[in-house]
Amino acid sequence: MNINNTNNLVWSVGKVSFENKCEILKQKGIVIWFTGISGSGKSTIAIEVENELMKLGKLAYRLDGDNIRHGLCSDLGFSEEDRNENIRRIAEVSALFRDAGLITLVAFISPYKKMREYAKERIGKGYFFEVYVKADLDICVKRDPKGLYEKAVRGEIQNFTGISSPYEEPHNPDLILDTGKMSVCDCTEKVLQLILKNLEKGV
Ligand code: ADX
Repeated sequence: MNINNTNNLVWSVGKVSFENKCEILKQKGIVIWFTGISGSGKSTIAIEVENELMKLGKLAYRLDGDNIRHGLCSDLGFSEEDRNENIRRIAEVSALFRDAGLITLVAFISPYKKMREYAKERIGKGYFFEVYVKADLDICVKRDPKGLYEKAVRGEIQNFTGISSPYEEPHNPDLILDTGKMSVCDCTEKVLQLILKNLEKGV
């Protein structure tokens, strides 16, 4: 199989631009990229943000690691290589959703800085906002909403982020949400402010 082969391919340019789509939707396509370890609260906050945006008449779409791994990425596991491919695919999907004018809420652990940078590059500066959903490992282990930390500690799950697989913290995220200290409501409000501030800037 020949991958990365763009020989003999010609980009097809349509008549409807990104600006046209944003105008139809009366919003701007952007990507909010939530990163953080399992149990930090990425999905919970993204669900609330999506709901609040709906109340404001804004169309958002959530891309959630657990959900996407049921379909598009169901062939991938949790090795470094598979996680990189997982993030590569979701970066590409997010770039398309952004181009479609959607406020795209990405909730993936995305543990490697290199791949988050790849996502930023593919989605575009000014359209990609990194939100670090930060919670101490011991808090997440205590929360353990899916019972996965318990299994990981018992050695029943391999390569578990924070236990037997690394998480590289963002150095300069657009927003840090310390979910050990802040309520879901306060975190949601902070993300909404970030989104609305950037929608105001126009396409
Ligand atoms: S990522 O590292 O490739 O970005 P992703 O966000 O798609 O991960 O999936 C993480 C989810 O998969 C977790 O929330 C958890 O429910 C589940 N999971 C299963 N095995 C693992 C593992 N080894 N490490 C982390 N999460 C896992």
